[in-house]
Amino acid sequence: MRTFFNAEDIGNLDKALSEARAIKADRYAWKHLGRDKTILLVFFNNSLRTRLSSQKAAMNLGMNAIVLNIGQDSWRLETELGVVMDGDKSEHLREAIPVMGSYCDIIGVRSFASLSDREADYAETVLQQFVAYSGRPVISLESATVHPCQALADLITIDEYKRKTTPKVVLSWAPHPKALPQAVPNSFAQWMVAAGYEVVICHPEGYELDPRFTGGAKIEYDQMKAFEGADFVYAKNWSCPGVVCPEDYGKILSTDMSWTVGSRQMAVTDNARFMHCLPVRRNMIVTDEVIDSPASLVIPEAANREISAQLVMKRMLEAL
Ligand code: CP
Repeated sequence: MRTFFNAEDIGNLDKALSEARAIKADRYAWKHLGRDKTILLVFFNNSLRTRLSSQKAAMNLGMNAIVLNIGQDSWRLETELGVVMDGDKSEHLREAIPVMGSYCDIIGVRSFASLSDREADYAETVLQQFVAYSGRPVISLESATVHPCQALADLITIDEYKRKTTPKVVLSWAPHPKALPQAVPNSFAQWMVAAGYEVVICHPEGYELDPRFTGGAKIEYDQMKAFEGADFVYAKNWSCPGVVCPEDYGKILSTDMSWTVGSRQMAVTDNARFMHCLPVRRNMIVTDEVIDSPASLVIPEAANREISAQLVMKRMLEAL
């Protein structure tokens, strides 16, 4: 596996889930694979779970992990091609990436969407430069449009807690004070559809996600109707994806607090489990009552980030 961006990169999902169970049963069983190998984890943006779970997964595999926080530990990097570099950015990605590649065997990159240039964001311009110039396998640790390590952890979590073969999984938009990218909902929709689950996505009008990620899911504008009979509820905020109105890309179109997931919505589900990728804004995205209830899976979901990261790194090490 040379890249990990989309569900298709991992191949058969049942096989991946079986591998995840084996890793969870004995996460140190593949320690020999990473001997004398190094993973470089490059962060253009903040992180708690992705940073820690990736480092832990690398350690489980016997790999060395180097974390680089761009602009803090390193020079500030220019990401756009063809610009006159007379500002505050000292080095261009064009040189920095091959240099980074020379010090490692695998690269993971976190680089969020700008939310100002839809074309550049949806072309994954930063991530694709790592593919083109590093000479190394590349993992998206949440890039402009996808967060596959999170989606794989979500899939593992649902597999562990599902009570039926084809659960109803609802992805619900919820309010947030800041404009957030679409990477998490894009990947969640893509992976849940790929798993063959019944997927319903609900949001106010204008928040339609890109159909290349949601194909196969049902779109619903009535949140209560969407939640009826749900087995899993996945709450997340995202800013306008610009699918219907490109000029609204990255904007906050609604702050409607009636979309905050609470006991009113959970009451119409089939005893659904609550999920969120974290970090979460309490009483914006979800009420204290729901996130603190036994229905909440947010902690085991976050713990599974270690397993998903290890599965991806294991596959890449095996292919080196
Ligand atoms: N869910 C997730 O990616 O968390 P962090 O942003 O803290 O890494």
